[in-house]
Amino acid sequence: MKLNTLFAFALAATVSAAPLHEPREQPHNQKNDQYEYRPVTKLDEGTLQVTDNDDPPKHTPHVYESKNWSGAVLKNQPEERYIYTSVRGRFTVPSVQYHGSHHKDESAAIWIGIDGFPDGTSMLQAGVSITVPEKGPVKYEIGVEWYPEPLQKLSYFPIHAGDVISIDIVANTSTTGTIIVDNESRGELARIPMQAPAKEPGENYWLMGQSVEWIVEDFQHPLANFSEVVFYNASAETSFYETVTLSEADVIILKPRQSESLSQVSIDSDSQLTVRYRG
Ligand SMILES: *[C@@H]1O[C@H](CO)[C@@H](O)[C@H](O)[C@H]1NC(C)=O
Ligand SMILES: *[C@@H]1O[C@H](CO)[C@@H](O)[C@H](O)[C@H]1NC(C)=O
Ligand SMILES: *[C@@H]1O[C@H](CO)[C@@H](O)[C@H](O)[C@H]1NC(C)=O
Ligand SMILES: *[C@@H]1O[C@H](CO)[C@@H](O)[C@H](O)[C@H]1NC(C)=O
Ligand SMILES: *[C@@H]1O[C@H](CO)[C@@H](O)[C@H](O)[C@H]1NC(C)=O
Repeated sequence: MKLNTLFAFALAATVSAAPLHEPREQPHNQKNDQYEYRPVTKLDEGTLQVTDNDDPPKHTPHVYESKNWSGAVLKNQPEERYIYTSVRGRFTVPSVQYHGSHHKDESAAIWIGIDGFPDGTSMLQAGVSITVPEKGPVKYEIGVEWYPEPLQKLSYFPIHAGDVISIDIVANTSTTGTIIVDNESRGELARIPMQAPAKEPGENYWLMGQSVEWIVEDFQHPLANFSEVVFYNASAETSFYETVTLSEADVIILKPRQSESLSQVSIDSDSQLTVRYRG
């Protein structure tokens, strides 16, 4: 509650009285069983590989593991008074090929978002989902989402492996946002006003602004071999209008079973991280 109050306070100056757009019809199937969308478990520190670099992170990242996702997260501490109000980054859509022998579609999704950590009760995110059928072309799709409302695919933008996609996510208030998607070679593709989904009549989900993240998700097992995703120009802004970098980021590795980790994460610099597929 405290955070929400702060959020409203910090943003009051930029909020207009009128809604951003006509509210969309809200889905009816929002149950609490979706509450722990992205559960994580904290691991020992020290398993992280930090790449040698002239500009190394100043803090030792905490390492968490998840069954579904992997990447880097910036999170505020309850005693810190700021919250995150925007996040951005770029990545190249990886070229992916079918590699398994299980005859199921493989998949991976690349996301940049606000409030996916620790459990993503309500989060605002945008990214690219990749579906790799055993035979036939790989499907790459851009989408935006204010979870728990389902993904809204921007199917009017065809994307391909090798495209450089830049994403900027702004929480204008705790219940309204703007997502800007650019294609490096084409310029701005879309500027999408977002509105928090309804929770109950008269009450919406809202963002707490407690984390921002750059991740790859295994949204529908088995995971596709995405080789590696490099997020660059990664940064976020706080309710104090400060820009924050990856220097304080923690990492999440993807570990569906006790014995194996499917990903490796490195914080390469204050503005770049890499998520590698390990198979
Ligand atoms: C991004 O730019 C590339 C190169 O110009 C183009 O092939 C691709 O279709 C563009 N993607 C979108 C979504 O506009
Ligand atoms: C929300 O933020 C975006 C990006 O900064 C801005 O373009 C837009 O005008 C803002 N909307 C409102 C209602 O403040
Ligand atoms: C996460 O993975 C678990 C176990 O593999 C699966 O049961 C669950 O549905 C997945 N959740 C999401 C949000 O993908
Ligand atoms: C974005 O990243 C590229 C590649 O790392 C770098 O050359 C460029 O200076 C960055 N731009 C900004 C605005 O940080
Ligand atoms: C994933 O794909 C890349 C590029 O095709 C390949 O070099 C790598 O060996 C693959 N990784 C695994 C674990 O299969």
